[in-house]
Amino acid sequence: RKDLIFTYKGTVYPTTLCTAEIFKAMESFEARRDDVILAGFPKSGTNWFGQILSDLIATAAKNNKNETNHHNDVPEEFPYLEIGDPEKYERMKKLPPRRLIRTHMSPQNLPESIFKNKAKILLLLRNPKDLATSYYHFSLVFSPFPSYESWDSFFKDFMAGKVPWGSYFNYLSEWNKYIVSENVMPVSFEEVKENTYLGVKKIVEFFEFPLNEEEIHAVVQRSSFQSMKTNSKNTHGAFGDVLFRKGGVSDWRNLFEEKHNLEMDKMYKEHLAATTLGTRLNY
Ligand code: PPS
Repeated sequence: RKDLIFTYKGTVYPTTLCTAEIFKAMESFEARRDDVILAGFPKSGTNWFGQILSDLIATAAKNNKNETNHHNDVPEEFPYLEIGDPEKYERMKKLPPRRLIRTHMSPQNLPESIFKNKAKILLLLRNPKDLATSYYHFSLVFSPFPSYESWDSFFKDFMAGKVPWGSYFNYLSEWNKYIVSENVMPVSFEEVKENTYLGVKKIVEFFEFPLNEEEIHAVVQRSSFQSMKTNSKNTHGAFGDVLFRKGGVSDWRNLFEEKHNLEMDKMYKEHLAATTLGTRLNY
């Protein structure tokens, strides 16, 4: 189990997806002002918001060029910045705008050019209890991640930051230092679940996508849990069913016992309650 993870600069990563070589090669990555960066901890809804963003980029490109541009034409290397082979950053240099770049990483470990070159970042937030619940179920079936004998043993590692990409609490504390920037927009899973149209509208305005109302509504529709789940065999193969599990809010109530609840509440109070991002977590 231990070989499935390794530590790089103090954070735990999955060995089969990330390597020290790729982190080294990432130093050559040069962000562009018009890059669309999607930052979210694992299980915060990155596939959902990735669908929304790639759809927005494709629709905007179609409008600009006035020609048919299919969804899979969105300039994108392997979905996550830190996953793939070390040569990917060279290939990424040749991609036309606007590149969609997803990452699960903490901001202090990201290439500095993202901030220096003022690329806009959509920062995805999800309630930590639901995120942990989603993460646990995923760990049971996703072979690159360590699996667990019990929810209890997963919870211990999650709280201690020993799961892939480390501690969600540290992640949020670090990102909290970056949100004063007007180039970082936090959006929560829960607010977009509550009203997807308003969420997408906010994203459209932030990234300045030239879309009309009708097109925005179409993006909203294509991003629904049901339509993504139905389509998941094509988009995610065998992993579709695991990735699109429930797609809701408050499923933690089916898993947490009182002791887990108290321990997470304590962690939240000590590390996040007084921060801006902490108040945005629907806690
Ligand atoms: S991963 O493996 O880190 O890339 O997972 P990620 O995509 O970040 O998060 C997976 C959870 O997001 C839910 N999901 C959705 N919710 C609502 N609407 C849509 N369209 C949607 N797509 C994915 C997915 O079901 C996972 O949450 P859980 O709670 O496990 O269902």
